[in-house]
Amino acid sequence: MSGSAPNPHATADQVEAAWEDTKLAQVLYHDWEAQTYDEKWSISFDERCIDYARDRFVAVAGEAGWPYGRSLEIGAGTGFFTLNLMLAGVIEKGTVTDISPGMVEVAQRNAEGLGFALEGEAADAESLPYDDDSFDLVIGHAVIHHIPDVEKAFREMLRVLRPGGRIVICGEPTRRGDFVARRLSRLTWWATTNATRLGPLRGWSRPAEELDESSRAAALEAVVDLHTFEPSALERTVLRAGGVNVRTATEELTASWFGWPVRTFEAAVPEDRLGAGWRMFAYKTWLRLSALDKAVSPVVPKGLYYNVSVTATKP
Ligand SMILES: C[S@@+](CC[C@H](N)C(=O)[O-])C[C@H]1O[C@@H](n2cnc3c(N)ncnc32)[C@H](O)[C@@H]1O
Repeated sequence: MSGSAPNPHATADQVEAAWEDTKLAQVLYHDWEAQTYDEKWSISFDERCIDYARDRFVAVAGEAGWPYGRSLEIGAGTGFFTLNLMLAGVIEKGTVTDISPGMVEVAQRNAEGLGFALEGEAADAESLPYDDDSFDLVIGHAVIHHIPDVEKAFREMLRVLRPGGRIVICGEPTRRGDFVARRLSRLTWWATTNATRLGPLRGWSRPAEELDESSRAAALEAVVDLHTFEPSALERTVLRAGGVNVRTATEELTASWFGWPVRTFEAAVPEDRLGAGWRMFAYKTWLRLSALDKAVSPVVPKGLYYNVSVTATKP
């Protein structure tokens, strides 16, 4: 897979084959998504995303050991986690991998824009093209729910990590959190696309072909999203793979009930309808709700939160 070229425009035959082959689906879906990914997920490399990436990392792994010398990211996408953690001073030297060559290309372009040298190559997290004991840190964000054999991926992460090195995987969906978030998103999509068909709100409707494309993408999402996680079961998986000092943290309860509908609403209406004021309102509200979720965490069961992160070290 290393070195293969991005394929942003899959043929009908390839898409057909992807329904039966989850890894082909990952490559096609994410190669297609790569060019517009940062816009879709409001990814940037500034204070907002630096704080977000650093806070996620700290919530599960604390601040000891900073800065990590050599870091490897699996499923790095456009470089959101590695680049923002480099900007935050958590990582010195970053290497990114992703099963989608298109994503690696965009991550390296983003790094160039920030003046960073970023090594990267297309690689499957279940078989990493690096020697044993090569890195001080292995990270991932919103990736292991796409990997068929999660335990095998953790064994690979531990293999390429030096003894004493740390794994930090953040932003994975919990079983119950995902159940609620998906239903809220579907309801928002239905309500928005129906409401914007009506007379006074017509100007808020996106062109039919764009909505069709989003619906097709959403259908393929069902093929690429493979898992949700129960925090305690995830801890056991990492222990079986050979990790020690394993711990999980969960975040976002009311923040996810707000955040997922907002993201769905943003995808259902034309971008120029929503100005900077809306984005700031959405972000500030999300921050307030996240703070509330943190405050009530001692009395709310871990598995109800939307996001789970896990950390472990190599013996
Ligand atoms: C939801 S995106 C997250 C991207 C990025 N980490 C972020 O947070 O913005 C998941 C990424 O995992 C990648 N991926 C899926 N399966 C993979 C695998 N088996 N090995 C490596 N990367 C994989 C996809 O290509 C995609 O870029």
